[in-house]
Amino acid sequence: MSAGESFYLATPIFYVNDVPHIGHAYTEVAADLVTRWHRQSGDDTWLLTGTDEHGQKILRTAVANDTTPKAWADRLVNESWLPLLETITIANDDFIRTTDERHETAVKIFLQKLYDDGYIYSGEYEGYYCVGCEEYKQLDDLMETETGDYAGQLVCKIHSRPIEVLKEKNYFFRMSDFQQRLLDLYEENPTFVQPESVRNEIISFVKGGLSDLSISRSSFDWGIQIPWDPTHVVYVWFDALLNYISAIGYGTDDENFNRRWPATQLVGKDIARFHAVIWPAMLMAAGLQPPKQVFGHGWLLVGGEKMSKSKLTGIAPQQITDTFGADAFRYYFMRAISFGQDGSFSWEDLSARYQAELANGFGNLASRVTAMVTRYYDGVLPAPAEYSEADLAVQKVVADATSDADAAIQRLAIHESLAAIWTIVEELNGYITIQEPWVLAKADETRARLGTVLYTATEGLRALAVLLSPVIPGATAKLWAALGAEPVLGGLTAQVITDAGTWGQLPAGSAISKLEALFPRIEQDDVPA
Ligand code: ME8
Ligand code: MG
Repeated sequence: MSAGESFYLATPIFYVNDVPHIGHAYTEVAADLVTRWHRQSGDDTWLLTGTDEHGQKILRTAVANDTTPKAWADRLVNESWLPLLETITIANDDFIRTTDERHETAVKIFLQKLYDDGYIYSGEYEGYYCVGCEEYKQLDDLMETETGDYAGQLVCKIHSRPIEVLKEKNYFFRMSDFQQRLLDLYEENPTFVQPESVRNEIISFVKGGLSDLSISRSSFDWGIQIPWDPTHVVYVWFDALLNYISAIGYGTDDENFNRRWPATQLVGKDIARFHAVIWPAMLMAAGLQPPKQVFGHGWLLVGGEKMSKSKLTGIAPQQITDTFGADAFRYYFMRAISFGQDGSFSWEDLSARYQAELANGFGNLASRVTAMVTRYYDGVLPAPAEYSEADLAVQKVVADATSDADAAIQRLAIHESLAAIWTIVEELNGYITIQEPWVLAKADETRARLGTVLYTATEGLRALAVLLSPVIPGATAKLWAALGAEPVLGGLTAQVITDAGTWGQLPAGSAISKLEALFPRIEQDDVPA
């Protein structure tokens, strides 16, 4: 991608039936990291996230809590979902709620257009529905349980809760018309759905045939009214998917819409089908472009199962950030799990990586180097003398890491991008061990060499601060301040990330100050186990 292009990324909008857990935070962090990277590459970047508030699941939760769905949603959004973004330092550009008037207006415009163009007809739905999934189900999506509370009943394979049988007058979307066009899209644009495992699943699902989709419900009224028939509300998924275009001005602000659309869509693989089948079919019917890409990332597992609200296996993000901080949260999940695959969370693994990689690997490097410049040069960055082979090797590692990390981000291989950046941490630690600046500091004859070594290490930290700023924005801001970089190079987030590998940006004479530990030691007793 060349700088200046539009890069619009959207997360799913999350159900407000309950508070967020680390699975939701995982999607948010990935989205935030990637958009920060693009923003710092000079792209015209936009990050959207938000909440999904209509439908029976929210309605029932509100009723069970003796309140109205809108009051329930307001409370959850204000007390839990917006604060989540602070907890894990998400720099989103917008937050959409499906109860926003701007959203409801756009949904009505979109539906009316499809209706006028003959893509919607009235009929009757008779079949299964899982309120947990908010999804119409086929028999093979269900199973009969033999034990437990629901023994002998048909339950949804995902939620393990009894399925409901509906017989309702509904409006239908002619989704079956789009089967071939969808298959053509997957074929012509092989990266439209990623990773490959999800792409294969989607293709085989669509090859199996598409039915028309019921897009309204008439047995309750918590939702957006169908414009031509107020006795129906829009099916919650049809409503929710439209957030990606309602938020950027579909139907009301063509200029902004054209500037942003199409989006890159980051979702969990649980909802890849909605995004890679229903959603592009809806857009095709409306004469709009499909998304640029739908990436279905893997699941965080607990005890081998998907962490979920309904199964009470959720861990609150704050349980982790209270002890380890937001930066460690962000780094850990992005580094430890191959993006696109499932991963298990464990406190032991988090503690081990925190200590080895963040505290000892990176944090200690930053403290030692700034301490030596302070001690041996009164905090004034020395100029390098002649570069030796070892110094040039550092420069090459920094340049290669920058281009490799960028290439990985373009493929959404976030973990690979972090691994590429970490080659700089390893190189610099090895370099300092071999060069022994504390020995060079003992004699006048090696003073020039000492200056070159400390310049090289400090300039390496400059590159690391820039490359890691989308990942650990808090720690890198402190490092940037300690490097005295702001007065000479400008703010950290204003640095062009793809230029981070260009050597020699931090000028000699910069005022370096000693850094406190970026990732202080955490006692085992403080880790929640
Ligand atoms: O599906 N591991 O909302 P939702 C990784 N409202 N990611 C996880 C996860 C886990 N264990 N659990 C949840 C909905 N997620 C709809 C979406 S979009 C138009 C409407 C993340 O609250 C992941 O992104 O059930 C997953 O797709 C999403 O939360 C589901 O959130
Ligand atoms: Mg869910």
